[in-house]
Order: sequence, then C-alpha cells, then structure tokens
Amino acid sequence: MTPGSGLTLAQAVRWHAAIDRRRSRRSYDEARPDSADLDALGALAERFRPFAGARVGLAREASSDMFVGIVGAYGGISGAPSAFVFLGRADTPPQTVGYTGEALMLEATARGLDTCWVGGMFSSVHAARAAGASPGERVFGVSPVGHAHEAVTLKERVLFKGGRPQTRMSVEEIAPGSRSWPEWARAAAEAVVPAPSAMNRQPWRLRFEDAALVISFDGADTPRISKRLDCGIAMLHAELAAAVRGVTGDWELLGPPDVARFTPRLR
Ligand SMILES: Cc1cc2nc3c(=O)[nH]c(=O)nc-3n(C[C@H](O)[C@H](O)[C@H](O)COP(=O)(O)O)c2cc1C
Repeated sequence: MTPGSGLTLAQAVRWHAAIDRRRSRRSYDEARPDSADLDALGALAERFRPFAGARVGLAREASSDMFVGIVGAYGGISGAPSAFVFLGRADTPPQTVGYTGEALMLEATARGLDTCWVGGMFSSVHAARAAGASPGERVFGVSPVGHAHEAVTLKERVLFKGGRPQTRMSVEEIAPGSRSWPEWARAAAEAVVPAPSAMNRQPWRLRFEDAALVISFDGADTPRISKRLDCGIAMLHAELAAAVRGVTGDWELLGPPDVARFTPRLR
C-alpha cells in the first residue's frame, strides 16, 4: 500500500474546484507568470512527491526548443514562457507521474494560469536540461505554464471543432453500474470524466469491488505515451472528489491492465 498522498483538505477543495476550469491551451502570451505564482508552484513541485521517483520540475524560463510540434499540428505549442517537466526514473510507474503532474496542473489552474499536457511533441534533452533533471531521470511529458492568448486561436478552432471542450465519455461508459455505488465512489467517477488524456482517448475504466475503487485502462497499453499516465491523472481526480466528501484512503498500484486501487480508510 502506498500511504495516501498526504493531500490536505484545503488542497483537495482547491484542486477539485479547478477540475472544471482546466482546459488545454496551446498558444501563449510570452509574458512570464507572476514570480509569486512561480515561487509557489516551485515550492509545491519540491514538496508534493507522494510516490517515490515521480516528480515535477519547474522551468521558470522555458526555452522554445522544448516544444517541437509543427505549428498547426497536434502538439504545436507556441510562446510558452514557463513549463512543467514531468519526471520519473526508467522503472517509475507512469501512473505515479500522471498523478503527481496533475496536482501541479490543477494548482496552476487555481492560480489562473493555463497549461497543456504534452506527451509526444517535445525535446527530452531540452526539457531535462530546463528542469535540472538528474542523469537517471526520464522525461514523461511537459506542459506550458503561462497565460494563453485570450481568444481561442484559429489553430485551436481547427483542431478542436470551434474551440469547444473536447467530447467526453459518459460516467456510465467509464464506470458501468456506478449509479448503485456509494456516493463518494460515484462522485469520484464523475470527477474523472473531465480529466485530460493523450488524444482525448479517455482510456480509464472504473469498477467498485470489495469496498474499494479500482482504475484500469481499456484495450492494450501504448508504448509511447502509456495509458497508465492518463490513468494516474484520473487517480488524482477521483481522490479529490472523495476527499471533498470526507473520504480519504490509500492507493495500491496494480499491474496492467489494472492501474491502482483506492481503499478508503476506516473512520
Ligand atoms: C498524457 C497526455 C499527453 C498529451 N499530449 C498532447 C500533445 O502532445 N499535444 C497536444 O496538443 N495535446 C496533448 N494532450 C492534451 C489532450 O489533447 C487534451 O487533454 C484532450 O484533448 C482533452 O482536452 P482538454 O485537456 O482541453 O480537456 C495530452 C494530454 C495528456 C493527458
């Protein structure tokens, strides 16, 4: 069992409220975020490391070399002033990187900053350097951190049909039978629906068994960007929804196609 992430109730309330406000943005105003916000994000990145090996590096000055996407294509990020770099070791379970990274993403959102998980189109070498990664660390992904251009850009409109939020699967599709689950578990499944995932593939599936919530992924895993990374993001969303309802618990990591089991602590 991994001891609970040590989320405070205040963090859970703040990050849970940010879930519906977060949205991937790809075109940035080059003005740097307030240094107070960067200081707070840097301090959180140092402190919030609930799983061994997984961490977030903050690059206060993102180099344009970090984002290598062709402008106009999926992954093309422009003008990012600062960035998160999502790090782990070669054997770090990707779900722990997703979980840890999403906490920083939601904190940035709570501070009025924009972000976008980028799992494919980035330069590992530049990202590792910008975040001060150590030789044994691997870059799982990056995100711009800053203020997106006010209006949704043409690129975003072309990519995402009018700039509207991407379509989502229903709670019943990702968590069959959840209508009859305890209220906290149903709320946890609902909080997974708006989570970000690579190509918006929403690979997470949830089941309730033996009084615990189990997250798994659909189909086969994909080597380049593991579905377990997306599912780690889902783990955090689920735990936040449980925590704001007074249910705290512990995570146990599981082997594929399962990802993790959340068991509430007895109160
Ligand atoms: C692990 C991961 C990798 C992603 N990689 C990219 C990427 O390389 N390029 C990109 O433009 N968006 C990327 N995204 C963002 C998704 O496209 C986005 O989360 C999804 O379309 C849902 O939209 P939303 O985040 O606005 O809710 C990634 C998201 C995740 C979670």
